[in-house]
Amino acid sequence: FKTRRLDGIQLTITAGPTREAIDPVRYISNHSSGKMGYALASAAADAGAIVTLISGPTNLACPERVTRIDVTSAQDMLEAATSTLDHCQLFIGCAAVADYRPAIAADQKIKKDNDTMHIELVRNPDIVSTVANHAKRPITIGFAAETQDLLRYARGKLERKNLDLIIANDVSNTDIGFNSSENAVTAIWQEGQHTIPQMSKSQLAAQLINLIAEKFFAAKS
Ligand code: PMT
Repeated sequence: FKTRRLDGIQLTITAGPTREAIDPVRYISNHSSGKMGYALASAAADAGAIVTLISGPTNLACPERVTRIDVTSAQDMLEAATSTLDHCQLFIGCAAVADYRPAIAADQKIKKDNDTMHIELVRNPDIVSTVANHAKRPITIGFAAETQDLLRYARGKLERKNLDLIIANDVSNTDIGFNSSENAVTAIWQEGQHTIPQMSKSQLAAQLINLIAEKFFAAKS
């Protein structure tokens, strides 16, 4: 396929999990490895974009020509994301942000004095939706990780979060979800959708970046 360019486009992308502290030694998180987000960052840099990668904790090396900001919690990630909005033209939220965090992170390690324990959780801010509703709104793209009713739930998130495009990812299939080396997705927008079959995350990232460049930056490339 024809490679389209994102030359000079300022892109912010979030990747990986967030960690929400319970106490100094424990946290709530998920299985995101960061592979999909890092592959997108790399493909976008190859397409000429100026890429800021906001990354939760991962074991991955920062791709070449990409600036990485390391964060831990959802609140850190939100702060880092909004700090880029002055110049950001394109935002891709690929991170698996923890939806809830402990209401209180204990200062000291919690002792196991009881047979059961309760942790009160409070809702985290929604990063991609905050970006999509910001006064300096970039083209805003999210992912939808679903285990059932993939396309319907993804379309719901496209609307609710005020996104330009959403990438639906069936994470019930362990070959193409969290921490896998391959993926298969459907990109969904208001008037249409496009399915990309299973392939390596880096090949798939190149196709997604191509689609995004064609849809949103065709006139400028
Ligand atoms: O990292 P890998 O191991 O390679 O796995 C890739 C992936 C499965 C994590 C990735 O492809 C993916 O689907 N990422 C989105 C994971 C997710 O949290 O999806 P969601 O359907 O719960 O959230 C929808 C969108 O809202 C996402 O763009 C998410 O980044 C965003 N969100 C969610 C909650 C929140 N508090 N803030 C957000 O910005």
